[in-house]
Amino acid sequence: MPTTSREQAPTSAPAEPALVHAARVADLHNDRLVLLRVTVVVATGYAVGASMQSAYIYARLIPGWDAVTVWQRLAANALAVLALVTTFAGLRAWRATKVWQMLLAAVGGSIAAAGTRLAAQVAFGVYVDPDFETQQAELLSGFAIALISSSIGYWGLVSRRRSRAKTRAAERDAVLVELAVQALEQEEIRVRREVAEGLHGTLQQKLVLVDARLASVLAHVQDGLDEHDRASLDWVRSELDQARQIDVREMSRLLYPDRLELGLVPAVRALLGRLPASIATQLEVTDEVRQVDDPCGNHLSLSERLLAVRVVEEGVTNALKHGPASKVRVDLMMDGDHLVIAVENDGETYDPASAGAASGTARIGHRLALVGGSVDLSPGTVRGARLVARMPLGAHDA
Ligand SMILES: Nc1ncnc2c1ncn2[C@@H]1O[C@H](COP(=O)(O)OP(=O)(O)OP(=O)(O)O)[C@@H](O)[C@H]1O
Ligand SMILES: [Mg+2]
Repeated sequence: MPTTSREQAPTSAPAEPALVHAARVADLHNDRLVLLRVTVVVATGYAVGASMQSAYIYARLIPGWDAVTVWQRLAANALAVLALVTTFAGLRAWRATKVWQMLLAAVGGSIAAAGTRLAAQVAFGVYVDPDFETQQAELLSGFAIALISSSIGYWGLVSRRRSRAKTRAAERDAVLVELAVQALEQEEIRVRREVAEGLHGTLQQKLVLVDARLASVLAHVQDGLDEHDRASLDWVRSELDQARQIDVREMSRLLYPDRLELGLVPAVRALLGRLPASIATQLEVTDEVRQVDDPCGNHLSLSERLLAVRVVEEGVTNALKHGPASKVRVDLMMDGDHLVIAVENDGETYDPASAGAASGTARIGHRLALVGGSVDLSPGTVRGARLVARMPLGAHDA
């Protein structure tokens, strides 16, 4: 049974990529094993069964049959099995893809097996000069058994091919889903950045121009305005200024944190830098994180950075809102291939029993769960609260 020689996939033009070719060679190798193994096992089963039946049952009923040993019958049947698989190997029967090709190979192998069996029966002394009817009966039974064995072998081959095709389709779907998620993430980041830039640039500039025009009109009509109108216009200007300074810029940052392009550490530093001066901030970053955060290294994707900044934002907002804190500490470290983000503050000690329902932390938790990460809120080391998020890196590279 030639199962050890290397299988060659038929060459097709144009040349296929090496990986596809290797997969086809592996598939053919696998097909050969399945077809030959199943056929041999089934045919051997029949061969042994038929030999035993003749030697131990028919020998008692038919005069003269007890003169032939079970070994003679077994040897003849074994040669028939060998003839069947040798024919399959010669025809490369595992390459058959169409029903007629399979049928042709099965019939060819079965004829070879039946003929070999009869010749071996005569050679091994099972029959001495058999008459025409005996020859016909042996040929027919040999052919039928070989054909049934070959058909079962092909059934195994077709089933294997179907299950392989299903597995491949499922793998392809998983890759497509993964690519779609990545594309969506990139699209989300692109839209965020464009809207943030639009708010920060275009809208802010328009508001500045409106304010400047208002200021010049005010200067012209200074004397013609009564106290009330001037106060109203001053109010409009101050509202415009506040909308520009706080609302627009803050919204722009919310959509796309400052300095995210430069890395996670610069973005977190910028975020902490915007806190009121009365709150002491501390940022601890391990060397490992600095390495993965190198924007040239491409280890930390923009979406991973964005998510990490969101965790820090949530921890800091909670510290200000629920603390109230006088100190906020942020730690960025690695634990294996997980980025660990810890935000701790020194406000009121967090008590899970009396705390409000998880809202912002739950939202962050859902985002992290999508990439295989998690978040945990617990009491701080001394007082306050500690928010710890774990995020696996390179989930998309796997
Ligand atoms: N730094 C903290 N100090 C003390 N308690 C905290 C702190 N952070 C969270 N908590 C408690 O945990 C609860 C859940 O926090 P979470 O951030 O999930 O929701 P939230 O802050 O109340 O709402 P949202 O995040 O939507 O603004 C809070 O209501 C609060 O009681
Ligand atoms: Mg919150």
